[in-house]
Amino acid sequence: MDRIKIVGGQRLKGKIPISGAKNAALPLMIASLLTQDRLTLKNVPNLADVNLLARILRNHGVDHSVDGKRAGNNQHIGETFHLTARDIVDTTAPYEMVSRMRASFWVLGPLLARMGEARVSMPGGCAIGTRPVDLHLMGMKALGAEIDIDGGYVVARAPKGLRGNRIIFPKVSVGATHNVMMAATLAKGETVIENAAREPEVADVANCLVKMGAKIEGIGTSTVRIQGRDRLEGAVHTVLPDRIETGTYAFAVAATGGELFLEGARPELLETPLDVLRRIGATVTIEEGGIRVSRDGGHLEPVSIETQPYPGFPTDLQAQLMALTTTARGTSVIRETIFENRFMHVQELVRLGADIKLHGDTATISGVQGLRGAQVMATDLRASVSLVIAGLIADGETMINRVYHLDRGFERLEHKLSACGAIIERITA
Ligand code: EPZ
Repeated sequence: MDRIKIVGGQRLKGKIPISGAKNAALPLMIASLLTQDRLTLKNVPNLADVNLLARILRNHGVDHSVDGKRAGNNQHIGETFHLTARDIVDTTAPYEMVSRMRASFWVLGPLLARMGEARVSMPGGCAIGTRPVDLHLMGMKALGAEIDIDGGYVVARAPKGLRGNRIIFPKVSVGATHNVMMAATLAKGETVIENAAREPEVADVANCLVKMGAKIEGIGTSTVRIQGRDRLEGAVHTVLPDRIETGTYAFAVAATGGELFLEGARPELLETPLDVLRRIGATVTIEEGGIRVSRDGGHLEPVSIETQPYPGFPTDLQAQLMALTTTARGTSVIRETIFENRFMHVQELVRLGADIKLHGDTATISGVQGLRGAQVMATDLRASVSLVIAGLIADGETMINRVYHLDRGFERLEHKLSACGAIIERITA
């Protein structure tokens, strides 16, 4: 198993190109199931999750090809995927695949809408919390599907097709919004989703669906209105930049000091995290083509935040923010309201010398003078990268074990950081 070794204490300086967003690329790839025609996606990040989903989609009959790159082509520019689901050959998404990546559960809506049936494994346990699928099932039932649970599988049927309806989600769910929105594009009549997730990745998928011929109003708001169509067509769409990757490197340079230009980042996608960074003491400048973040010798201020659905502070940046606050001058408080168990990084940060107390959903971080390198273990994607940030500020050597989590969501992480002065290397077992 690969490990990452970091020798901390270096300031970051330089330019980091921001990749396409994983959490948009995945549902965009799934949207290819809605049409017989070719969907071309540009700026797709080269990540383990993306490659696994491509395999899952091939299993359903999606023809997948990737544009080649010539030697010398800019390796930072994401890949171009062509996905064609001319014939769906299999409407089952098996346990072996769905259990490895939760987002693959979202094939349920598109398969059901197009084929009138789908058999999709329940995703099962997950390190960051229980993560049920009740809202997804509620949405599919509202669209007229019959749902059974059989042998760990959701078996959904709508032999006469789906019918539009009004769905009021009792809780904001990114995945359930994606799933219902995609299904509703091929339902008969109008679907209205109330309390829809407003995450930019949901809007990116909606914009792609519109290019495919879907009729959608209220994109990016909490009320999304979809007029069903008989069929959708092919389209060409560019995946939006990854706001979580952007925030991660922005927090990293605030932690180490120095200056980074985050190339291709879009500031309007992460206003709340950028505000938090300014409060902490970093300088954030919006420039043509990206965001510049810097911090000179000044100390870090403590902050109090709670995670919220977009446009609030994202749960996917909570661990990274915590790593940053470990050396702030004072006490920070971070409350996690989205996932009940998303604190596995706490014990690992404590191993590096952080002073963090956990009470239920709230972490209290008392800033310390500095961290010291140690052996730590990556537990989930965002927790892992918080350990990278902590390793960059810690004195001495930090060894991060089980880094395959990082490969699920951060493209070329160690290259991007070492190009900006970090001492970081992957040790391949
Ligand atoms: C998406 O997960 C993201 N994944 C997650 O990113 C992100 O943390 C999360 O949204 C919240 O922003 C992708 O986009 C691939 P939810 P999702 O449904 O859709 C509860 C990362 O690190 N809920 O919005 O699975 C749920 O338990 C990942 O990139 C139900 O109760 O999250 C949670 O408390 C991790 N019933 C809350 O809603 C349901 O049926 C929000 O979950 C569905 C969800």
